[in-house]
Formats: sequence, C-alpha cells, structure tokens
Amino acid sequence: MRYAAITERLQGLGGAKWEVHAMAKAMAQTGQEVIALTIGEPDVPPPDELLDKANAAMRGGRVGYSNGRGEPGLLAALAARYTKRTGRSIGPNQVMCFPGTQTSLYAVLTALVGPGDEVLVGDPMYATYEAVIRAPGAAPVSVPLRPEFGFRMQAEDVAARITPASRVLFLNTPHNPTGAVLTREDLVALGRLAREHDLWILSDEVYEELIFGGSFTSPLDMADLAERTIAVSSISKSHAAPGFRSGWAVGPGEFMARLLPVAETMLFGNQPFIADMTALAVSKPSPVAPGMVERFAHRARMIREALHGVNALHVHEPSAGMFTVIDIRATGLSGEDFARKLLMEERVAVMPGESFGPSLNGWLRLSLTRPDDETAEACRRIAAFAARQMEM
Ligand SMILES: Cc1ncc(COP(=O)(O)O)c(C=O)c1O
Repeated sequence: MRYAAITERLQGLGGAKWEVHAMAKAMAQTGQEVIALTIGEPDVPPPDELLDKANAAMRGGRVGYSNGRGEPGLLAALAARYTKRTGRSIGPNQVMCFPGTQTSLYAVLTALVGPGDEVLVGDPMYATYEAVIRAPGAAPVSVPLRPEFGFRMQAEDVAARITPASRVLFLNTPHNPTGAVLTREDLVALGRLAREHDLWILSDEVYEELIFGGSFTSPLDMADLAERTIAVSSISKSHAAPGFRSGWAVGPGEFMARLLPVAETMLFGNQPFIADMTALAVSKPSPVAPGMVERFAHRARMIREALHGVNALHVHEPSAGMFTVIDIRATGLSGEDFARKLLMEERVAVMPGESFGPSLNGWLRLSLTRPDDETAEACRRIAAFAARQMEM
C-alpha cells in the first residue's frame, strides 16, 4: 500500500522516545514495584471548583457543537488575561482555543511553515517538537542550549544558524526538560534577530505558572514583537488538568484569521463545558500552582543535595517546571543505557536525555512529581547504580 509522506517524516518520532516509560508501565502492570520519574503528571487533582463547573455546565446542556475558534466566554476570558499580562489590548479575534498546547503547536506550525522552510528550535527540546515541525514538511534546525548559560537560548547561537529558509524561532519558556526561564534580556536579543530576519516567534508557555522564583517574561509581552509572536499554553500544568485537553493560541489577528480554517478543518470546535471550566480557570490565579511550585522546587533541591557531586554526577538546578536534568556522562554510559539498566537493576524509571535531542546525550531527565519519600529512594538507587558503573 502507499502512504502519505507525512507518515515517513514522523517515523520514529512518536512513541519510540517513551520506550523506558512504556517498559516501566508494563513492569508495574505485572505487579513489579517501580519508581517512575519519567513523565510529568501533576501530583494533585484539578481544583474542585473547576470539576464542579465542568459538571454543572455539562448538566446544564453545554454539550452541543462549538465553533472553530472557541466559545465566546472563553475567548473573552483569555483576551482579558492576555490584555492584563501584556498591557496591550488583546481582542478575542487574537485568540483561538484548541484541545491542549500540543494541538495548538500542530495547528500553528501547519499555518506557518511547509516544505523547504526551517524552524529554529532549542536542543534539548520537548519530545514532540521535532514531529510538529516535520509534520507540515519543515525542517528543524537545532540551536544548542548550553549548560553554561543555564540552558537559556543565546542569540549568538541562533544567529549562527539563520539561513534564507528560516521562518520561525520556536521558544519554550519555561523550558522542558531543563527548567530554564528566558530573561527579558535574552528575549530582547532573540527578538532583535527575529525582527532583522523577519522570523515568526512561537512561544510555548505551558509552564508559565510553575516558576520557582523570579518573574516570567514572554515575547508576546514585548510591544515590538507583538506582530510576529504567537504564544501557546493550556490548563494542563497550571491547573493540574492535562486530561481535559484545554489549550489556546494567542497572536496577531491577521494570523488568527489564517489559522481559523486550519482549526475548523482539524477540530470543528471543542467542548463547551470544558470551555466554561477553562474560562473560570484563566480568570484568576490558579489555586493549585503555588503548591506544585513549592513541592517541585523542594524536590529539585532534594535531588541536587542527594546526587550532585556523588560519583561524579552533575545535577542541574531548574528554575521552573516539573523536571530536573542530570549529567551522567562520568559513568561512561549514554542516557539510554543508563536509563534501561537502571530500570532493570534498580526498578527506577527515568527519561534518557537523548529523547530530548542529541545535546542531552549522557543526561537523564527526572520528574519532580512523585512524593518526597519515593524521590529520595529513587536518588539512593541512582547513586548506588552510578557507583557500580564507576567501579566497572
Ligand atoms: C513543553 C511542553 N509543551 C506542551 C506540552 C503538552 O501540553 P498540553 O497538555 O497542553 O497539550 C507539554 C507536556 O508535557 C510540554 O512539556
């Protein structure tokens, strides 16, 4: 049989990166005790008032078809939120609702790039980014994010990779997997390049509310970048509600008008009762984000205290998000080998750094979402495993 080229382009970019996670799940299903620090599921349920709102809306008949852009109440709530954050008037025509950040990324990139176009993206990157860039036929151009700059993207590293085919500068702040948060100065320098080379800026801000200290700046907040910036986010992390699949894109009205048929073709709208819940969520500060910030920051410190400098492991300090990354190169193993053997020998599942790009070869990503005692036990097992590698 013949298949479309997209199926070739996405070969190996889907589930393959999550193999260790899948193995851990399979082991747990057969009754084996595994500590899984692979994916970042929030460690609390969504706030009750959101569940009640969704329920009441569903019972109240908010179960019909929506429209391609989103429910008016949610569009207005998001427009108000971004108007407040940016200090500029953002209208509902500048917002579009999607089932999650992931779908927003897919739709936005489909509307921005095609074959022959290049997308500048940090390496390491969130595991689905290469696929969302390749899906419309564009090519990712990796910009190494260097540990010595706290993994914050540096304008000089971008400048060295710009070509006439560059179309989009794809940012992720706060960043998964490294927890880096771009500063205003970083964004000024990156924004200058984007203006000089007429690049779009796509900013994935799904961890905005999980910053461990300090402030958040988005390129969307900068008036001189507004005409070229599209921000995407969701309630998955901020409100511990990934299963509701509720996200959005915000950007120039002209771009949103182009995006609308893409969204209509893909989705024909999303669920009004989830839109009502999301409108409530985004209209005030999240009641669950501060607790997550406290717990995740605490666990990041625990892991660093337990493992940094132990058997030559190097633990990076994240500034935000749900993860921390560890440099295990001193053990002589790749991240893949370390993660597989660790699972088999110590029943601890972590993500190999390679799943996030070649620059994290020899690194691991650990999720900060498991309880303190499990996290502490995982650290003991990782240290013991690393010690055995060093003796070999
Ligand atoms: C950087 C990043 N972007 C997007 C997503 C997907 O978010 P959503 O649930 O809103 O689709 C994730 C989920 O882990 C993520 O880490």
